Amino acid sequence: MHRREFLSSIASVAASGALHGLAPAALAGIDPDSRQATGVKIGEVSHNGALAWMRLTERAARQADGELRRGTVRPFAGGRSTRELEGSTPGAPGRVRLRYSTKANLAEARDTGWVTVPAERDYSHQFHLGDLRADTEYFYSAETSGPDGKLHAPVAGRFRTALAPDSTSGLRFCMTTCQKYSQLDHPDGFHIYNSIGALDPRFYISAGDIVYYDSDDPRATNIELARYHWDRMFSFPRHRQMLAHVPGYFLKDDHDTLTNDVWPSMKLKPEYRMSFADGLRAFREQVPMGRSTFRSFRWGRTLQIWFVEGRDFRSANDIPDGPEKTIWGVEQKQWLMRSLAESTADWRILISPTPIVGPDRTSKGDNHSNKEFAWEGRQFREWAHKTLGDNFVNINGDRHWQYHSVHPETGTHEFSVGPASDSHASGSPGENKNFHRFHRMLGGFLEVETRREGRESFLDFRLRDVMGKPTYAYTFTRGIKS
Ligand SMILES: [Fe+2]
Repeated sequence: MHRREFLSSIASVAASGALHGLAPAALAGIDPDSRQATGVKIGEVSHNGALAWMRLTERAARQADGELRRGTVRPFAGGRSTRELEGSTPGAPGRVRLRYSTKANLAEARDTGWVTVPAERDYSHQFHLGDLRADTEYFYSAETSGPDGKLHAPVAGRFRTALAPDSTSGLRFCMTTCQKYSQLDHPDGFHIYNSIGALDPRFYISAGDIVYYDSDDPRATNIELARYHWDRMFSFPRHRQMLAHVPGYFLKDDHDTLTNDVWPSMKLKPEYRMSFADGLRAFREQVPMGRSTFRSFRWGRTLQIWFVEGRDFRSANDIPDGPEKTIWGVEQKQWLMRSLAESTADWRILISPTPIVGPDRTSKGDNHSNKEFAWEGRQFREWAHKTLGDNFVNINGDRHWQYHSVHPETGTHEFSVGPASDSHASGSPGENKNFHRFHRMLGGFLEVETRREGRESFLDFRLRDVMGKPTYAYTFTRGIKS
């Protein structure tokens, strides 16, 4: 089925005005009898499996009116409910299941069976879909029912599994970071979701700061407010539409764990009713995530990607730097170095929520390009240069400007994808010719493509602005034996 056909097949558009509290924009493409206002997230896609995140909600779509909290951060008074707020999508009790098939009409569909969604997990559930065929498109019907068993209208979507490990085909993916609600650039969701959807990539990466608990209003100091941040972000029609055909890999950084530059033992302000451990749980509850938050996926012969965890295992930012001080922790670092060294993929790409090359402002002390973690940063860059050579690239989230940097001593390449919207761009120390091949302080995203032609393998990087227009392109090339 082609993309256009598919989108119209899920667009059973409602008599929008008839539904109380929902503006027409909020209903575009959403069946008023469905109850999945936060959509479906397919994630952790491999060549034979995937995770499907579902959540049952009271209504079909987000609360379009209600109190708008998109400005200066103010406290949210105790005793009030997030239901009063714009973008809220309260969860509801009942059951969920997913039917999926390689046929668009769901012929011979497999079925996960019904599962009751508990309030303790925000009425969400994650299904592990196993035994899938590599490089195959799967169509799904995400179904819900109330506690009485009465079915709601289903939500449709599709995704494609990863290329088989021995496939020589290339692929395209996209990456984004730093989506700040107060800096939204369109009432139906960020422009980048339309721009990425139009490229029809095999997957996208949301590389941290997916929501800003501490610096978007209202500050999320408890689990209800944290969930509200996720609800309003993923209930935008544009976001739902893209995620209905583009699976994601989700990484967290500081703002979607708890607060700015957070580490596990950081002392929190007294107003916090949420601990670091609560933050880790909330993240796993809101995105499809398997056993480990650090993991690697192979996409055929051309590509292997690594996702690193930057919060769970980190030392306190404010202790003196040295060999013991770490962002990654011993176990993750051993896994990362061993699996990177063993990989036979044409291209090895590390996805890190924070930069490794930089440069960054001298006032910052949270990442491998800062002096606070200089020891581990240098250790990794030197190791990568010696062991991995020229087919290793880092892509980072966190920084609010686009760049392509090359470390002057080790030659490590790093791409920063830019924030989700132009108005969120800020904070660069400025262009530095010792590092930068490209520097642009505006929003956008990154598109990466791998391809083999004859005895050569290519890796194309294209930074794009929020509307999808290329701002910079760079191609890596290497010879291959087989
Ligand atoms: Fe950020």
